[in-house]
This record gives sequence, structure tokens and C-alpha cells, in this order.
Amino acid sequence: MSTTIKTISTEQTIPLRSMVLRPGLPESTCHLEGDQADTTQHFGLFKDEKILAIVSRMQSSYLTPNDWQIRAMAVHPDHRREGLGREILQFVLEQGKEARTEIIWCNAREVAVPFYRSLGFQKVGDVFTVPGIGPHYKMVFASSDTFHLYEI
Ligand SMILES: CC(C)(COP(=O)(O)OP(=O)(O)OC[C@H]1O[C@@H](n2cnc3c(N)ncnc32)[C@H](O)[C@@H]1OP(=O)(O)O)[C@@H](O)C(=O)NCCC(=O)NCCS
Repeated sequence: MSTTIKTISTEQTIPLRSMVLRPGLPESTCHLEGDQADTTQHFGLFKDEKILAIVSRMQSSYLTPNDWQIRAMAVHPDHRREGLGREILQFVLEQGKEARTEIIWCNAREVAVPFYRSLGFQKVGDVFTVPGIGPHYKMVFASSDTFHLYEI
């Protein structure tokens, strides 16, 4: 069965956010600052009308005001390593290319570093801890030219 990627509402992200990213925590912890901003977009990857992967992108400055931050990236636990995470994030990276976004960045959980690296993100800086969640690395996706220009 083929997959479709669609824009979804914040509310539609909540079930997967809750199950994957905030297990056992109240639903209120699944809402992120910026969720409702005009410049934010949430995407869902659908298979058989079920959402199996989600990702949100928010305008958030890394080096320039138009940079995008990737947030709340999650794939249903029964469908890991099927390429769904790559498919939905690649979709956002393509949009970024079309929008000429210079930098797309994220705070990656340590366990997700190989995933982001496989899509061309690079680790920047030292490990840091997000309270209640664990070790993270800032990771940045940019053209090699941009890396050269800004010497990240
Ligand atoms: C991280 C996550 C989004 C990856 O999604 P996924 O659909 O399983 O990943 P994909 O199948 O698209 O993997 C693409 C590539 O990423 C890398 N990768 C993905 N998961 C990996 C893992 N657990 N260990 C090592 N490499 C991994 C591989 O290179 C993989 O390619 P391959 O399968 O051909 O070897 C998913 O595991 C997840 O939801 N994890 C829990 C939530 C989370 O940590 N989100 C990120 C928050 S920052």
C-alpha cells in the first residue's frame, strides 16, 4: 500500500507525539510552543488512512531568521526501519530547498543521531541534556556552501 504525506493539524499529531515522544505523560506535555504559529507546518505520513509518521517544522533562527527547526519527529513503533521517517523528513528537506531555506536544524535525541545523519544532518557542538528526556545533540542540515560560508 502506498503512502501519502499531508499537512495535518496540531491535534492530529497528538496521538503519535504522546505514544512515542511523551509516553506516560499528560497530553498537555505534547503541545509545543509555536505549534499554532502561521509559519509552522505539521505533516503526517498516511498508510491505509492511518498516520504512521509525523514531523513538524517551525520557523526558528539558527543563523538566519528564516531557518527551520524540525520538531516532534516520530514514527509508529510497529513501523520503524521501513523508511517512513526518511520519507517524511526528506519531504520537508525538499520543501526547504524549494523555499531556499538556508539552515534546517533540530535538537536530536542521542538515539536519533544516526537517523538524522543518514539524511545529511551534521552534529554541531557538545551533548546537552533535556530534563526528563535525556541527551541531545544540535544537528544541522545545510548545503556544503552554506557550511563553508558560516563555518558552523
Ligand atoms: C528516529 C526515527 C524517527 C527513525 O524513523 P524510521 O522510520 O525508523 O527510520 P528510517 O527507516 O527512515 O531510517 C532511515 C535511516 O536512518 C538510520 N536509522 C534509523 N533508525 C536507526 C537506528 N535505530 N539505528 C541506527 N540507524 C538508524 C539508518 O541509516 C536508516 O537507513 P537503513 O534502514 O536503510 O539502514 C524513529 O526511530 C522514531 O520515531 N524514534 C523514536 C522517536 C525519536 O527519537 N524521534 C526523534 C526525536 S529528535
